[in-house]
Amino acid sequence: MNYRVPKTRKEIFETLIKGLQRLEYRGYDSAGVAIDGNNHEVKERHIHLVKKRGKVKALDEELYKQDSMDLKVEFETHFGIAHTRWATHGVPNAVNSHPQRSDKGNEFVVIHNGIITNYKDLRKFLESKGYEFESETDTETIAKLIKYVFDNRETEDITFSTLVERVIQQLEGAFALVFKSIHYPGEAVATRRGSPLLIGVRSKYKLSTEQIPVLYRTCNIENVKNICKTRMKRLDSSTCLHAVGDKAVEFFFASDASAIIEHTNRVIFLEDDDIAAVADGKLSIHRVKRSASDDPSRAIQTLQMELQQIMKGNFSAFMQKEIFEQPESVFNTMRGRVNFETNTVLLGGLKDHLKEIRRCRRLIVIGCGTSYHAAVATRQVLEELTELPVMVELASDFLDRNTPVFRDDVCFFISQSGETADTLLALRYCKDRGALTVGITNTVGSSISRETDCGVHINAGPEVGVASTKAYTSQFISLVMFGLMMSEDRISLQNRRQEIIRGLRSLPELIKEVLLLDEKIHDLALELYTQRSLLVMGRGYNYATCLEGALKIKEITYMHSEGILAGELKHGPLALVDKQMPVIMVIMKDPCFAKCQNALQQVTARQGRPIILCSKDDTESSKFAYKTIELPHTVDCLQGILSVIPLQLLSFHLAVLRGYDVDFPRNLAKSVTVE
Ligand code: G6P
Repeated sequence: MNYRVPKTRKEIFETLIKGLQRLEYRGYDSAGVAIDGNNHEVKERHIHLVKKRGKVKALDEELYKQDSMDLKVEFETHFGIAHTRWATHGVPNAVNSHPQRSDKGNEFVVIHNGIITNYKDLRKFLESKGYEFESETDTETIAKLIKYVFDNRETEDITFSTLVERVIQQLEGAFALVFKSIHYPGEAVATRRGSPLLIGVRSKYKLSTEQIPVLYRTCNIENVKNICKTRMKRLDSSTCLHAVGDKAVEFFFASDASAIIEHTNRVIFLEDDDIAAVADGKLSIHRVKRSASDDPSRAIQTLQMELQQIMKGNFSAFMQKEIFEQPESVFNTMRGRVNFETNTVLLGGLKDHLKEIRRCRRLIVIGCGTSYHAAVATRQVLEELTELPVMVELASDFLDRNTPVFRDDVCFFISQSGETADTLLALRYCKDRGALTVGITNTVGSSISRETDCGVHINAGPEVGVASTKAYTSQFISLVMFGLMMSEDRISLQNRRQEIIRGLRSLPELIKEVLLLDEKIHDLALELYTQRSLLVMGRGYNYATCLEGALKIKEITYMHSEGILAGELKHGPLALVDKQMPVIMVIMKDPCFAKCQNALQQVTARQGRPIILCSKDDTESSKFAYKTIELPHTVDCLQGILSVIPLQLLSFHLAVLRGYDVDFPRNLAKSVTVE
């Protein structure tokens, strides 16, 4: 949204397309854009809609093919919207992609993240009123619904934000929405419930305020019309944001800060059910209900994120860059928290709740995908250090089971993005039952970090590759640090704590050593990349390594891969072992070493050819290995941080050799904001 900053249509396109490209890493299948057809100042209202299946590049090329589009035309106030879609309802194609429209004349267009769960009922209702649908999406009902509300308005001067307010009262499910309309040229209205949405603010000049007060509706919906006439029309500098005087200010609506960070690092995070409207170059926020946090204003925050942090550097893929960043990211997770001199750990985000956590009955650690594996990896050390029962849960299954949760439970929510829908729903479920909630996320300002009672930011830096790598090792360390903080007063655990803290100190150097194995792992990948299947086997502290290694392999190489608990080998998986099947075994010098040797014997007895990840000094396992990858040794409960890295590298090389796009695996998205 640009206000009194003359811009050509080309500049507006470029801003929108760049924004989409910054988000493309999350994995999408189609894209679209809506911009003003003509300068609204000449009163020829028209919205130009361009949509395309495939990557953002295809949309970009399509835009320049449009003859009717004068790229040099200048706008003073202009509002354009753009979206990349990951199909949930209806196949990926141009018609199903966003913006969705109210009618062939594009009177209202909308972009949407999330899922509308009652869209079938709404669609039936709208069809009964004569509205014709063209797509299979849930989003199209929103576009039609706003037109229905507009067509049935009681007064001519109803505001755009009132229409949106009425629309969202009919919606169930999750959404972040941005609307544009030919009836309100140059105006924008955005709202959210359950899906993230922020507003970037850019101005060279002093802003009228740093806190935008939220306007509340104090009466029921029948009276909204009158309120709008009075209150919304009398916006003054105390109820909205603009640049001081008659100066330029630009507003950027986005689901993620990385889309807009190159324009501004000053952002406002919207709360559920906030309705943000820009009209006449002024931003105002209102809501019908009071917010959960009851904060009467929304502050403009300054983000500490650099664009270069989200760029690829010299690596061929973000994932590769992120694997190699782990010596630093792991260090950043511990920085200022672990004191290696005094052997103490302080997690600032938890300190005020520590007493309450220490009194709890059990810990429940919840996540999805890689984040769940971080919970599996640290379960044993958490049980040891906290002396509490620890349940580890996949968010979706936890919800499916209606798991009993009590007021004296402490529930951890592990999520790189902080936006994963299943994890977020599990968080709300636990909150409703009175448990203390703790977030472990990598994204400041994310829904999970805002909705939990307290938390830890893992400080791994932005993770772009869809397959999570550095977030895993940082989540792992965050959970270990929590265990250490909890056990500070336990005399009997002091030696163990010191051993672990010493282990943490040497981790960055040991990770560097493991990364030197890259070439060797590349050679192994050359041998394996034509295989159809790969088994990864281990137990104890390294069971999670096997699950995570197998997940990396299936995510980006599309090979079948299974993480197998070695203790279960003879209960089924052994039937898969023969001369052909590659079996990777993780065997470390820890309490499970002897049991892993048994598994190794069982594999070699079936003529299997095990590729063994083992400690440098392990002469026993290497005798039976087809190949070995030797790793530096560390404390048993931290060994999984070192042993997962060769598997991250292996999956990367396998995917490259098989000719796949490592950062954009098919059918997957970085941040899954739908259930
Ligand atoms: C998606 C990603 C996975 C990730 C999972 C959980 O499935 O593809 O890489 O582990 O979501 O994401 P979160 O952001 O909650 O850690």
